[in-house]
Amino acid sequence: MTRHPQLAAWVDEVAALCQPDRVHWCDGSAGEYDHMLRLMVQAGTAIPMDPVRPHSIFVRSDPADVARVEDRTFICSRRPEDAGPTNNWADPDEMKARLTSLFAGAMRGRTLFVIPYSMGPIGSPIAKIGVELTDSPYVVANMHIMTRVGVKVLEVLGADGEFVKGLHSVGAPLEGNQADVPWPCNSSNKYICHFPETREIWSFGSGYGGNALLGKKCHALRIASVQARDEGWMAEHMLILKLTSPAGEARYVTGAFPSACGKTNLAMMVPTVPGWKVETIGDDIAWMKFGPDGRLYAINPEAGFFGVAPGTSMKSNPNALRTLRENSIFTNCAMTRDGDVWWEQMTDVEPDELMDWLRRPWHPGIGRKAAHPNARFTAPARQCPVIAEEWEDPKGVPISAMLFGGRRASVVPLVTEAYTWEHGVFLGSIMGSETTAAAAGKVGQLRRDPFAMLPFCGYHMGDYFAHWFKIGRTHDPAVLPRLYYVNWFRQGPDGKFLWPGYGENSRVLKWIFERVSGTAEAVDTAIGRLPAPGALDLRGLDIPASHLETLLSVDTEGWLEELPLIRKHYASFGDRLPQELHAQLGQLEERLQAARV
Ligand code: GTP
Ligand code: SPV
Ligand code: MN
Repeated sequence: MTRHPQLAAWVDEVAALCQPDRVHWCDGSAGEYDHMLRLMVQAGTAIPMDPVRPHSIFVRSDPADVARVEDRTFICSRRPEDAGPTNNWADPDEMKARLTSLFAGAMRGRTLFVIPYSMGPIGSPIAKIGVELTDSPYVVANMHIMTRVGVKVLEVLGADGEFVKGLHSVGAPLEGNQADVPWPCNSSNKYICHFPETREIWSFGSGYGGNALLGKKCHALRIASVQARDEGWMAEHMLILKLTSPAGEARYVTGAFPSACGKTNLAMMVPTVPGWKVETIGDDIAWMKFGPDGRLYAINPEAGFFGVAPGTSMKSNPNALRTLRENSIFTNCAMTRDGDVWWEQMTDVEPDELMDWLRRPWHPGIGRKAAHPNARFTAPARQCPVIAEEWEDPKGVPISAMLFGGRRASVVPLVTEAYTWEHGVFLGSIMGSETTAAAAGKVGQLRRDPFAMLPFCGYHMGDYFAHWFKIGRTHDPAVLPRLYYVNWFRQGPDGKFLWPGYGENSRVLKWIFERVSGTAEAVDTAIGRLPAPGALDLRGLDIPASHLETLLSVDTEGWLEELPLIRKHYASFGDRLPQELHAQLGQLEERLQAARV
């Protein structure tokens, strides 16, 4: 199946350890995808949705396997200090010994699937290859959608190409004639382990999302962030969008927002400002390298969307719903009487009765959610009606601006432009957000999530900040992207959002477009540049003036109260925190004190 002796030897070695009944080399064909769906339907994992949504399936996971597990995620670098204070560290030899005993015989009664995949258009100079070995047909089907799988990848890999090794098992061997369960997993024994020096991933016990689709967070962020540091590029938790003005000029923008904080929505939004157009390049991950012209070029390493279902409606994100009409996988949604999916806010009127994601009858007013808050859809990016024509351009798209944003109920205004690259790195480093259902754990707790990379940076976060500064020092500031801090999630005293968000965010995008084009006004404040009065297009927006006042002004006292929190956050990085950040924090404090008098 491969001309690559090292790959062949690794597959043999894993097969000997895991003892699957058979080994299947994935060719990436449509027939293979159909075969996976059939396997899942036969096993009771999936329910076919034809004809409601052609060629789509409905899946319910085990209730103990519904999200990423950050406390079971490990960076196994040789030295603990290279994982840093934001990651769980484990010794690589000890972890491999423990995992080897867990993987021993773990695939008995199952098939070992070999998935050769490319992150990024096959053959793009920015793309990279990985191979995932898994015993889960659900993973194979999702990887078919999320990455480029198959024989073409093996061709590019050749006899000695480099690839990331990803080993995955749901950790539920079938002994003798033991019957399978609909969603096999090993919920009390999950390990999501990364070996950054040897570019390896070992994932055990979970079949869900970022724990199991190893091309996504494990490879494209945790391992790739280490490669990017070593090789001078960037691997970021960012959407990529194309913004076109009424005059037909286009700019490309990326945005780092934590999990379930609006990347998919922003990437596919329908602008409310007349004449403006947003098209999608990517909704979760950006890989960026500098081109010969000194500009930063981004590709979307993925080929599909693994998006948050709840909240997605024809009002909030019609382009996502149109993407999901066929060839899609729905996980942990509720089911309607006619076999379609439903989730919270999908329709204005809630269905009279549903089967919830736990197969229980559900009706409006029952007092619990019908879909799991982290219910997800998997759908091919090419089906998105606003996918940009250049989304698979191997050289990527040149980035003019980067946005950082999280869920901040208070203090952080709607939009702030960084004075310089260094100031922008400071803003990215202090990003905070309230936690969401994308990861197991408490929801709504404010935590620092620098650059939305807290769960995804594969090395010491202090060194990651230093990498951002190095990018700024070693490239032409005139063509570096401009950096912005945004916040769609500011709340009033009643706990309601002050800003309508979604398509109305186009007002902010328009201002950013005009700033990078040199045509919009800004005012200098203590925290950065804010839109000058009248510079943000608010025509047709019907919200109270007092809301706008809060959204577009500097809460000096609030920011002063934030300073000790930032200091505490910085202290956790010890002497690996770049001096530039201490300097930026000092300057912010001086400007705030000056603004106070
Ligand atoms: P991951 O796939 O987990 O990385 O998430 P994401 O960043 O792509 O988040 P997504 O766009 O799926 O949004 C998650 C939730 O935030 C959904 O419930 C949305 O309805 C909500 N949301 C997105 N944009 C906005 C906005 O502008 N305002 C408000 N209030 N909510 C938003
Ligand atoms: C996220 O949590 O940021 C996601 C979903 O994009 S998962 O693939 O599960 O990580
Ligand atoms: Mn994400």
